[in-house]
Amino acid sequence: MRIILFSCKPYDTESFASAEMPAAWHVQMQEARLSAETAALAEGYDVVCAFINDDLSAPVLERLAAGGTRLIALRSAGFNHVDLHAASQLGMPVVRVPAYSPYAVAEHAVALIMTLNRRTHRAFNRTREGDFSLHGLTGFDLHGKTVGIIGCGKIGLSLARIMRGFGCSVLLYDPYPVRGLSELGARQVTLEILISSSDIMSLHCPLTEGTHHLINAERLAQMKTGAMLINTGRGALIDTVAVISALKSGQLGYLGLDVYEEEADVFFEDYSDRPLQDDVLARLLTFPNVILTAHQAFLTREALSGIAQTTLDNIEAWAKGTPINQVEPCA
Ligand code: NAI
Repeated sequence: MRIILFSCKPYDTESFASAEMPAAWHVQMQEARLSAETAALAEGYDVVCAFINDDLSAPVLERLAAGGTRLIALRSAGFNHVDLHAASQLGMPVVRVPAYSPYAVAEHAVALIMTLNRRTHRAFNRTREGDFSLHGLTGFDLHGKTVGIIGCGKIGLSLARIMRGFGCSVLLYDPYPVRGLSELGARQVTLEILISSSDIMSLHCPLTEGTHHLINAERLAQMKTGAMLINTGRGALIDTVAVISALKSGQLGYLGLDVYEEEADVFFEDYSDRPLQDDVLARLLTFPNVILTAHQAFLTREALSGIAQTTLDNIEAWAKGTPINQVEPCA
């Protein structure tokens, strides 16, 4: 079996080296991102293993199929970047890692909440500069605040449990009934009620046509003035331009992002010695009440080893003719 990993970073090399796989398998680590330009690198590989900002559009999939690729193995839970219809027409199954430490992402959402609230990013810089003053660092008690969670799957419910531990009231929105509400001590409500009642709102639903720009100007206006918005889901769940207006007016009090609509052009790379070309991103980064991390919520040792092992297990199951974790295109 010949497997090529695109968008491979040193931490991927480490986690795949420690995972179990048949000795005869050949795994090629490729730093390049998968795109129309780099698809030729997969020539002769049975399996292409891709990450979230790799291009898996129809033309790229066609090029991969022509080069002999028979399986797309995603190292992610999300699959919004794959043209599933094209893959299906090419007879190329797509498998993913549906779960790997939901705690990694939920705990990162908490890190964003805590940093924004207690301004530890600003305090860190100040004390390093010999400035031990406290003005502008006033936070609020999380205890007693209302946290609204949109998307109540593995990650959303992990966050719900953590926030209950802080003494928060937790509101949940999901189009499907959420099980175990009384054990969680949370309430499932409509999207409208969640938006208008939450002091902190966190997004954990998949990106689909229906959730694209779920948080737009109208919904931002319905939020409590000065509330906090956290997005560790997918960038396009939020209309970034509308969010910038809400930050400028003060309607939105805090913004914590691990994902960004146009992240594929910049995330995972070091552009520190070049001018940032994305003016919307540049504007976002000027606000003191915005924290942006570059899609690192998944980045814990436990999650990385889970991703590597599930990816290899998915490939092995497919090779044996009993595929698991396959993603099917919607009808
Ligand atoms: P999951 O599949 O367990 O849960 C997703 C939940 O969203 C489900 O309960 C589903 O019913 C709900 N949902 C579907 N449509 C919805 C809508 N229109 N409004 C509200 N809820 C809706 O997924 P999981 O593992 O909890 O992951 C959630 C998302 O987090 C993924 O789709 C992915 O985009 C993102 N993610 C981000 C990572 C990061 O590093 N920043 C890492 C892993 C996942």
